[in-house]
Amino acid sequence: MSAPYTLPDLPYDFSALEPVISAEIMKLHYSKHHAGYVANLNTALEKYVEAEKKKDLSTMIELQQAIKFNGGGHLNHSIFWTNLAPIGKGGGGKPKGELLKAIIEQFGSLEHLIEQLSSITVGIQGSGWGWLGYNRVEKKMIITTCANQDPLCIKKYVPLLGIDVWEHAYYIDYKNVRAEYVKNIWKIVNWENVEERFLSVKK
Ligand SMILES: [Fe+2]
Repeated sequence: MSAPYTLPDLPYDFSALEPVISAEIMKLHYSKHHAGYVANLNTALEKYVEAEKKKDLSTMIELQQAIKFNGGGHLNHSIFWTNLAPIGKGGGGKPKGELLKAIIEQFGSLEHLIEQLSSITVGIQGSGWGWLGYNRVEKKMIITTCANQDPLCIKKYVPLLGIDVWEHAYYIDYKNVRAEYVKNIWKIVNWENVEERFLSVKK
């Protein structure tokens, strides 16, 4: 079976997000961590197909955790890279249009959304992600967190903007000061990408 999942192209150079995220972090994060999730996902899926052929249900169930973890890692990072852009070249500034309108309606202001999402993201115990997502049933945005590499679809929400707070995402640049990393990441948020996701989920 050929590898079904591949590492997506990074939409900018490793150094493009400096000084918020260094080239050293980006290189490791993309080429080692994300690439690792893709490779391990493909391996787990291959084993799953084999187990399925043999009707080996125990092995199929055992493999589900590896598929969830590595598949989640692949999904989350693929979104994360596009949620970010270099300062002044799509990164930072403010959302506009329908997204900004919805943020103000729901959170009072952009500043309030940033404050709330930053706070719950910084507060994650251990490794995980902070998310701005969309609840299709209630037709509104939500802010929440996920542990490890759990993808937001586990909570039945559609991801709009994710903040990776695994130590691999910031430790080289920020050491243990996660709050500083999360404060700075807003300078490189690609609001146009977030808005595209928002408009497409609302369709
Ligand atoms: Fe990561």
